[in-house]
Amino acid sequence: MATGLGRSQRFLSCMVTFQKCNCGVLSKFPQLSTSTYLHKARSSSERIKKSISQTGPSLTDFLRKSQPSQPALQGVDNVMGSGSYLGVHLFPGNNRSVYIETYGCQMNVNDTEIVRSILKQSGFVNSSSIEKADVVLAMTCAIREGAEDKIWRRLHYFKALKKRRGKRHSLKIGLLGCMAERLKHKIIDQEQMVDVVCGPDAYKDLPRLLVVTSSSNQAAVNVQLSLEETYADVVPVRLNSDSPSAFVSVMRGCDNMCTYCIVPFTRGRERSRPLTSIVNEINILSEQGCKEVTLLGQNVNSYRDLSSEEHTSSPTQLSAGFKTVYKPKTGGKRFAELLEAVALVNPEMRIRFTSPHPKDFPDEVLDTINAHPNICKHIHLPAQSGNSGVLDAMGRGYTREAYLELVEHVRKAIPDVALSSDFIAGFCGESEEAHKDTLSLMDIVKYNFAFCFPYSMRQKTRAYHRLEDNIPKEVKMKRHEELHATFRKHAEVRHMSQVGERHLILVEGESKRSSLDWAGRNDANTKVVFANEPLSYGSENGKEKVLAKPGDYVVVQLTSATSLGFKGKAIYRSTLQEFEEQRKKEDRNVCASL
Ligand code: 5AD
Ligand code: SF4
Repeated sequence: MATGLGRSQRFLSCMVTFQKCNCGVLSKFPQLSTSTYLHKARSSSERIKKSISQTGPSLTDFLRKSQPSQPALQGVDNVMGSGSYLGVHLFPGNNRSVYIETYGCQMNVNDTEIVRSILKQSGFVNSSSIEKADVVLAMTCAIREGAEDKIWRRLHYFKALKKRRGKRHSLKIGLLGCMAERLKHKIIDQEQMVDVVCGPDAYKDLPRLLVVTSSSNQAAVNVQLSLEETYADVVPVRLNSDSPSAFVSVMRGCDNMCTYCIVPFTRGRERSRPLTSIVNEINILSEQGCKEVTLLGQNVNSYRDLSSEEHTSSPTQLSAGFKTVYKPKTGGKRFAELLEAVALVNPEMRIRFTSPHPKDFPDEVLDTINAHPNICKHIHLPAQSGNSGVLDAMGRGYTREAYLELVEHVRKAIPDVALSSDFIAGFCGESEEAHKDTLSLMDIVKYNFAFCFPYSMRQKTRAYHRLEDNIPKEVKMKRHEELHATFRKHAEVRHMSQVGERHLILVEGESKRSSLDWAGRNDANTKVVFANEPLSYGSENGKEKVLAKPGDYVVVQLTSATSLGFKGKAIYRSTLQEFEEQRKKEDRNVCASL
């Protein structure tokens, strides 16, 4: 695997951390990785400041690294190789039970699956009861203040639970993921809320952190970011193993540095998992009966596997009219190759991906999506704003015009493609006019779905340092509501126009409202609910009728629609390939009759 970090650099980074870390406790555990700190719960604020500065990239780190004259990795003292954690057998869980709560995006769900796997290997067991668990962990999100507020409330509850139990049944509390990375030691030293703080690249160290905090009764922290950790060697323990759908992480981190976004600081630099390890995992999922895989990454279509020598060094193709904030990258196996390889694993397995950046949709990617019936014709194309000035302030690397041209191009390349997007309301300096531009962009594109968020200022980001969060809260909320209402208006019209069509639905499970109904999704990822009645296979006229089950494909005639989904009538059970054949036949018939 490409490490991206030379041995001497890696050694240096560990040494820097070691020298600066002055906890004293380390000497008690000479076998510990030098990258981790053990903190006495009541350490001095002086020391807190020192250690915080050692353990997270600042905006300057990114800016420094983006300058072409410097070696890409210079000046980052918080980055380490993934090989620096110690063997799991040294830190046995001894069947201690762990309850994990997950907040945030699908990437966090997948990270929880990775953590479960790592803990299982070390002899911890999973618990579904917070009351009975020995350890409670929160997999956290830091993207907006609201997300963090929710987690804070939960941490207070965990702390109260711990106090209530006392020595009778001691409880260890751990903070994992983005909020852990953002707050680092602060959460221990200022709030004394948790015993373990573990950032997104340090999960392999979690067994040790848990063992250490139990034996020393002191807090343990590892928030080192890595240039190479992709957890390619960890087989996730799926949270819902009965589900026909699974998430597979293909890359981590983000180099885009959108000015509003904390992700590059909490998840670190972009790195991709070797293509072969992804295909191997998906092969296993396919053998286990999984019918839908979502490829995950903060910037999934920036995928670039540099692990093999075979790849070319041809320059990276971007979408027309788009640019990057970083020095152009070359080489590696790109997203189109990954999509192709993954699609070929099992033609009956649906492939989705999230979350992409619009800059990385060269024709190769669009052609690959088009060429494989099992790659869903749904593209998430986060616009964030419809105004070129705001887009510039956000550092998105495109204008309104370039984005709209891309939409047109995608729609030409993939007829019937479903589009979704993310939007931020009330970004720094957004005028009423600029907001109207976003509404008008929505009117033009008419998305199938959109996530809309009021802007939330995040420390460390470029917007925090350089721009003013000057849109009053009420205005942000009003604009947020307008964005939401506009997306729903268009989605409803779009969905209503599809009533009467037959869609192929992958059954996920019982509908939330009634155990007599199945819920599943169509190719566009829109929810469809229908009555669970016996169905024949291949056509509605078949004799033998059986009930469909989760993981089956069912042809459903859509009978009603809202902005968020459909109701329908199940017609027959089918396969993805047969449905595609049928669709092509019907298209040929229509052409012939013209
Ligand atoms: N405030 C509001 N929304 C944000 N997002 C990212 N950072 C912020 C922020 N500071 C949104 C973007 C992104 C999505 C995952 O979250 O729309 O695409
Ligand atoms: Fe954040 Fe922009 Fe990276 Fe998405 S592309 S994770 S919004 S910095």
